Amino acid sequence: MLNIMGLNLKDYEMNKIKGQNRRNFMKTVGMTALMSAAASSNSFAMGQSRSKRSKYNFDEVYSRIGVNSVKWDNAIKRYGRENITIPMGIADLDFKQLPEVTKALKKRANYENYGYETIPDSYYQAIIDWNQSRYGLEVKKEWIRNSSALKPGMISSMRALNPVKGKVILQTPTYSGFTGAIHKAGMRVEMNPMKKIDGRWHMDLEDLDNRLDYETKCLILCNPNNPSGECWTADELRALGDVCMRHGVTILADEIHCDYVNKGQKFTPYASIGDKYANSSISYRSPSKTFGQANLKVAYFFTQNKDLMNATMIGGGHDTGCNAFGLIACETAFREGAQWVDEVTDYVDSNFDYVVEYINKEGNMPGVEYSKPEGTYLAWLDCNGIMAKVVTPEYRKAYHEKMKAAGRRHSGLTPEMALGEWIVENSGVELNAGSSYGIGSDGFMRMNVAIPRKHLTIAMDNLNKAFKAA
Ligand SMILES: Cc1ncc(COP(=O)(O)O)c(C=O)c1O
Repeated sequence: MLNIMGLNLKDYEMNKIKGQNRRNFMKTVGMTALMSAAASSNSFAMGQSRSKRSKYNFDEVYSRIGVNSVKWDNAIKRYGRENITIPMGIADLDFKQLPEVTKALKKRANYENYGYETIPDSYYQAIIDWNQSRYGLEVKKEWIRNSSALKPGMISSMRALNPVKGKVILQTPTYSGFTGAIHKAGMRVEMNPMKKIDGRWHMDLEDLDNRLDYETKCLILCNPNNPSGECWTADELRALGDVCMRHGVTILADEIHCDYVNKGQKFTPYASIGDKYANSSISYRSPSKTFGQANLKVAYFFTQNKDLMNATMIGGGHDTGCNAFGLIACETAFREGAQWVDEVTDYVDSNFDYVVEYINKEGNMPGVEYSKPEGTYLAWLDCNGIMAKVVTPEYRKAYHEKMKAAGRRHSGLTPEMALGEWIVENSGVELNAGSSYGIGSDGFMRMNVAIPRKHLTIAMDNLNKAFKAA
């Protein structure tokens, strides 16, 4: 049974399920265990340095088990409860919701009626104000449309703007879910691989120029880029836009990670870089990554170009999804969540510092290379060294046979998936296999660091032990 701070996983969950508060939890595990866990890592391990002005506690560990969470419950279902210590896969938050949102949702639930509703002006105004105050971006109400999630809006746009069965450009490595969205729109993926230079990924516009043809009229831009974290600069975006405009390509700008920007970095909305660029693009946003509202099913997209919007709505047949709870959660978060976002991004920023320092300490994480990203809460780890060591042909064969025997998908198993399996077996930590992020992802694994520091330190210590013993 894997151990969390002296408690086995089962006891730990039981304590959480019983609704034990943080102070009691600390008492149960004992300050000794806490101090030793902290000492085993480094100064970051003690968690959030809470200034007098910080209002929210992201150090709080609480259970997400038992609510059908993809991150925790699926990992447990797949590997067994005793084999999972810290899942660090799917991109959502292990932090509690902004309390103001919980309060607003409870108030709405007390009304006890869920009949048809319209979208109130105040919802649009909250989006407009958030864009103005956070990024200095003007968005007009008539430019905005609602959606049940980010991808449905994008799928409608692709259907409307790309030739039937045509190709959509992805700049890889990039978010794995785009592939499914492109296929759902009835299109094919065309990869425009990026180049890693001095630790940062760069767009390859020459290659892009060569790939664009009559079959390819949409490009999905991911800014900041999931998984590698680049916050594209205005110059980079304009250079991309110039190539796309020359070929009559519309930029579908996925900016879902835009609120997570590390210290000293800047998010530049695509719609902010100039009129002609804004006019040949649609921007897709959602409070889901920022506030951890993925299952409240609310998102929005906007463009100043009426033709692009009409095409998406009519040609693409976009179905605006109004969910009473999602709309309230989104509006409340944008109205009352500025300080929460400032604090959570500071917290994630120092989680990244912790991870970078840990990995780069001589001999600490053999076979892994990593430097701090500009944005997102995802660490894109170059695990080529450790992969070469542990994913031997024999291990791959055994993994393949194991999947086959379990009746699971076994054709197309990649070395990164085998590495993911090895990491779970040896550390109890689940990471995402890089192979689904497109060309350029060989030997990479994705790690979600939007988790309480205590869990992060346990995960890193477990990885450290596993990699050192390999
Ligand atoms: C870049 C990016 N876009 C879109 C999504 C999914 O958004 P939705 O669930 O709202 O469709 C994700 C989820 O991880 C993402 O990282």
